[in-house]
Amino acid sequence: MTRFLIDSDTAGDDVASLLFGLLWPGITLEAITVAAGNVHLHEAVRNALYTTEIAGRPEVPVFAGAGSPLLRPLVTAHYVHGDDGMGNSNFPAPVKAAEREHAVDAIVALADRYPSDLEVIAQAPLTNIALAVHKDPSLPEKIARLWIMGGSNNALGNITPAAEFNFYVDPEAAHIVLQAGFETTIVPWDVCLADAVLMREELEPILSMHTKLSEFYLAVNAAAWEFMRSDVETGGVDGIGHPDSLLMAMAIDSSVMVESQRCFVDVEHRGELTSGYSLVDVNDVLGREPNADVVTKANHDRFKQMLVELLKD
Ligand code: BDR
Ligand code: CA
Repeated sequence: MTRFLIDSDTAGDDVASLLFGLLWPGITLEAITVAAGNVHLHEAVRNALYTTEIAGRPEVPVFAGAGSPLLRPLVTAHYVHGDDGMGNSNFPAPVKAAEREHAVDAIVALADRYPSDLEVIAQAPLTNIALAVHKDPSLPEKIARLWIMGGSNNALGNITPAAEFNFYVDPEAAHIVLQAGFETTIVPWDVCLADAVLMREELEPILSMHTKLSEFYLAVNAAAWEFMRSDVETGGVDGIGHPDSLLMAMAIDSSVMVESQRCFVDVEHRGELTSGYSLVDVNDVLGREPNADVVTKANHDRFKQMLVELLKD
């Protein structure tokens, strides 16, 4: 039984990833920790709590963490995911509140409780994880694997030409985490674009399902779908992207990962035009010790099958 902790800036596709964690058979989601990113912290916490309730798993604890990046003002993505981060659905307030404990303390405590038995899904700016390493420098030894959705492998970013959103929002945190010594797998943005966008025709089974979860998924992703249609970088694609849920699906089922390459990765945090750029040394030009498995190909069909399975009841 694999134990997971998901660190999320809950909005849009973060939600599908949480649903995988909350509902997929054979895994245990120990906690959801939340950081500011896509939306402000209180919004991301509210969205995470609401998701646990929709999934019928309100007992899974939600911990609020960092309200802003380590050194910079927060940049959000309300323009992608809607004013509430949930496709402008304006869902009712959750019944439950977040735990009293801070997310960073919860990460450290859970790693201590389950040494070498906890996998962390990092699908937000890496602020909480960096602070947890600061609090407990031995954390990387206690975490079985750190899965990161972030960066772009020698390809365009999605918030600037150089940078993907999660690394861009808190590049200092990304730099700290990547150099901290975790067993790390990175799912970069280019793989998410190539292998985890479901086009309108592919969404048909979900559009015609009319289950509580399919309706929830479609409502939450409505704004992001509209954004994808009009986005210059994707060339105006009529589909929904799944960066975070691809990451989670891969952590649950290894057949979702088709190829990866072990290399040295670091994040630019001083650049003027390149802040948040992920340097992925695929040709080992720098001769630095590799620190991450970077996914280069995912199984689109298996991912799609898992998502349909997840939402069908
Ligand atoms: C990442 O940024 C956020 O907008 C998404 O939730 C995902 O984690 C994609 O760049
Ligand atoms: Ca996210």
